[in-house]
Amino acid sequence: MSRFIIEGGNRLNGELKIPGAKNAVLPILAATILNRGTSTIHNCPDLEDVATMQEILVSLGLRVERSNKTITVYGENIVTNKIPESSAGKMRSSIVLMGAMLGRVGEIYISYPGGCAIGPRPIDMHLSALRKMGAEIDDLYKGILHSKASRMRGAEILLDYPSVGATENIMLAASLAEGVTIIRNAAKEPEIVDLQNFLQQMGVEISGAGTGVIYITGRDEIKADVSYSVIPDRIVAGTYMTCAAAAGGEIILNGIEYEPVSSTVYCLRNCGVQIEPVDKKIIRVKSDRVPKAIEVVRTSPYPGFPTDMQPQLVALLSKAVGTSVVIETVFENRYGYVEQLMRMGADITVRERVAVIKGVKRLTGAFVDACDLRGGAALVVASLTAEGTSIINNVKHIDRGYESLEEHLSSVGAAIKRVQDD
Ligand code: EPZ
Repeated sequence: MSRFIIEGGNRLNGELKIPGAKNAVLPILAATILNRGTSTIHNCPDLEDVATMQEILVSLGLRVERSNKTITVYGENIVTNKIPESSAGKMRSSIVLMGAMLGRVGEIYISYPGGCAIGPRPIDMHLSALRKMGAEIDDLYKGILHSKASRMRGAEILLDYPSVGATENIMLAASLAEGVTIIRNAAKEPEIVDLQNFLQQMGVEISGAGTGVIYITGRDEIKADVSYSVIPDRIVAGTYMTCAAAAGGEIILNGIEYEPVSSTVYCLRNCGVQIEPVDKKIIRVKSDRVPKAIEVVRTSPYPGFPTDMQPQLVALLSKAVGTSVVIETVFENRYGYVEQLMRMGADITVRERVAVIKGVKRLTGAFVDACDLRGGAALVVASLTAEGTSIINNVKHIDRGYESLEEHLSSVGAAIKRVQDD
């Protein structure tokens, strides 16, 4: 396993290119299962979860080629309905393979999804929606879900929470279902809109993504040669902004529009960070002083402040002037990283979903463990502004969502390097 060694104190200056979005490319790769033609996906980030999704597609019998940031999936034939347990259990997004496989093949065996340990992460909304569309789903047996349907049927679905994954699962199942599906209280994230745009490219009649109500008219078959470029990663962009806010300096983010990061920008501006769009896809971030505390921040579904930016913001607020309160409304247990920040001298009290962060004058470099993807990113944010050396273990968690984070941060002046565990 590898670890990061970070010397705190360097200001950041320079330009960073924003890569394709992990949480957009994963459902889009799953959607290629629906297509008997060739799907060419551009701007794919080079991440472990993307490689895992590629492995799964290959294990189904699909021919998959990757060249730099482009992944091509040839959809002629699928030879099995079993998803390898070793792959599906690695990430949360494997659950949307149910919708794609039920649409294309009509049967799937898949293990319960994996992903960051930030709460129980049930799949009840996924299963009840797919059942309403005609899927028979056997109960979990030794961790394996078996589901089949002669043909999925369009249905009206009301989600009791705007679940991103459940919305994606239904969109995929509906694309080859008989009739019309309506998803109400659908997730509105930009990644949902990206999936809709891709499905439209494949000839699926789908509309409403981003509004909370999505309409899909299923097709009998999808056979199209399509080419599509994935949206940039708004969470990577927000993480870079928070690194600059913590370390001080001025960076230019290239390739990200303002709207998808507007709630993160709003929060960071409240901390006193200067953030301005300088062009349609270029944002400047400037921070020359200690951040101010924020009275209360709640995470919420898009377009609210994203839960995937909560750990990074808490790390920044650890050295703010004053006391801040952060309320995590999306996941039950997303403060696992706090005890690691406290090893660095942070003063944070967590009660269930509420974190009270008393800003301290200094953080001190420490030996810390990344416990999940965004919690690991939070440790990087704190290490950049801590005095002395920090060693972050288990950076495999961080690598799931950030391409060579150490190379990108080094390129703008951070003293960070990766070493292999002996
Ligand atoms: C997606 O997870 C993202 N992952 C997460 O990003 C992100 O935090 C989350 O959406 C919210 O934006 C991917 O896209 C791969 P949800 P997902 O279904 O789909 C509960 C990251 O760091 N729920 O919107 O799993 C669930 O437990 C990751 O990149 C049910 O109760 O999120 C949670 O409390 C972390 N039953 C809430 O809904 C269900 O059937 C939101 O979950 C489904 C979800």
